[in-house]
Amino acid sequence: MFENILSGNTYKSLVNGKWIESNSKKTIEIYSPVDKSLVGKIQAFSKDEVDKIIENSKEAQKAWGNTPINERAEVLYKVAALLDENVETISKIMQKEIAKDSKSATSEVKRTVDFINFTASEGNHVEGETIGADSFPGYKKNKISFVTRIPLGTVLAISPFNYPVNLSASKIAPALIAGNSVILKPPTQGAISALYLAEIFNKAGLPAGLLNVVTGKGSEIGDYIVAHKDINFINFTGSSEVGRHISKISDMVPLLLELGGKDAAIVLKDADLDLASSNIVAGAYGYSGQRCTAVKRVLVVNDVADKLTLLITEKIKQLKVGSPEDGVDITPLISDKAADFVQELIDDSIRKGAKLIVGNKRKDNLIYPTLIDNVTTDMRLAWEEPFGPVLPIIRINDMDEGIKIANESEYGLQSAVFTENINDAFYVAQKLEVGAVQINNKTERGPDHFPFLGVKSSGMGTQGIRYSIEAMSRPKAIVLNLK
Ligand code: NAP
Ligand code: G3H
Repeated sequence: MFENILSGNTYKSLVNGKWIESNSKKTIEIYSPVDKSLVGKIQAFSKDEVDKIIENSKEAQKAWGNTPINERAEVLYKVAALLDENVETISKIMQKEIAKDSKSATSEVKRTVDFINFTASEGNHVEGETIGADSFPGYKKNKISFVTRIPLGTVLAISPFNYPVNLSASKIAPALIAGNSVILKPPTQGAISALYLAEIFNKAGLPAGLLNVVTGKGSEIGDYIVAHKDINFINFTGSSEVGRHISKISDMVPLLLELGGKDAAIVLKDADLDLASSNIVAGAYGYSGQRCTAVKRVLVVNDVADKLTLLITEKIKQLKVGSPEDGVDITPLISDKAADFVQELIDDSIRKGAKLIVGNKRKDNLIYPTLIDNVTTDMRLAWEEPFGPVLPIIRINDMDEGIKIANESEYGLQSAVFTENINDAFYVAQKLEVGAVQINNKTERGPDHFPFLGVKSSGMGTQGIRYSIEAMSRPKAIVLNLK
């Protein structure tokens, strides 16, 4: 099934329906965060090659944009079916390449199958409208606007390391159903998993050139692709730093940016603490905290803070730590650099007087689940996104203080509020400056047809199957003027 994508230990890239090597002969070595073994090499494309690849995408889009939506949908249904047959293969690659625990890796691929199927059927229901002019003062019935949705052209999809399959497909599938071609720039660490995904689209019968994959370091070719004149839309998920940079260098190209977060779980005194602690632990430590929507701080009222901390601690102690394939919860972080950063935040908080409850144990890039109580607002851990398995507890007097601290963050992705009082839940939810608030649940993106968005440094534009299709298409109005 995947024999074409690899030559020795070197992965090629999908361009115009074929697996090719870069003319530069330059490759990048990808090492596993689990044991530092070589997973494989990927192509490092040059700027000249990027020009040709984008030109090819542009050409391929012309016929695809005119292909009936039901035929585009048929291709996506085939992609989903083929991906479903290869869940285990791709899950294993991810376990090795990005150290994602086996349960999360498998569920990422299965979720992607569902995502693509849903996108295919949703695409068939994206409809236009007709608008009569006579509702506007001074106009008669002889003028009618026929509004349809048309593709934008070539979409640049840039995905992050933590969901190399799902956050690539959740850009590719809606872009394709809307009639666009796609250039995928996968994360360097995660590129191999994304290349397997690309071959699924290819083998399922997606016409050549509609999905071209440009591998190479973002720091070397990223700016060049982002600022390329033939890119018509940029769909980016990653850090706020790179997202902000992209918004500065792109030139009048519409953007969808899903960026970092510092999601708060606000726990009020009448909360079901067992439910709250289970959700907080699952939310904070899933994939070792490397999720944009991970619970990244707990704001708990003093009355129940001791009890909640105890419950969280008991649940953390049940988490298993080790290698992805062993079905554990906590696995090594993506790099030593990432682990150093998490350690820096832990050390800063302890130095400034926070209380270590559990964890702060480390072996290279493997950080044990860490809980830190009595974190205060002068500590970096109160504000910065660790992207690792460390959770700060900030004690508050009441819900208004919780709202204030939550809103002082530069981020605004999601938040959660735990309470049995629906009035308090709505009061808090309405005041929080975030894209979405979860009542009595951990912060999370899914289900994938819900709108998912961040405000402030957490992004711009809205993801979610229908929202993504709409973002990557535009209205086209044809106005009929009757005599
Ligand atoms: P990242 O370092 O920002 O990288 C994301 C992607 O951008 C990678 O493909 C990267 O390529 C590419 N890139 C880097 N510099 C670029 C440039 N100048 N031009 C164009 N592309 C460039 O993020 P990450 O470390 O992979 O992911 C972790 C971050 O993503 C966290 O902050 C997390 O919160 C955020 N995230 C947000 C969401 C959301 O939906 N809100 C979802 C997932 C992750 P290389 O790998 O080659 O550098
Ligand atoms: O890492 C960011 C993802 O968009 C979060 O998705 O909440 O399903 O883990 P998730």
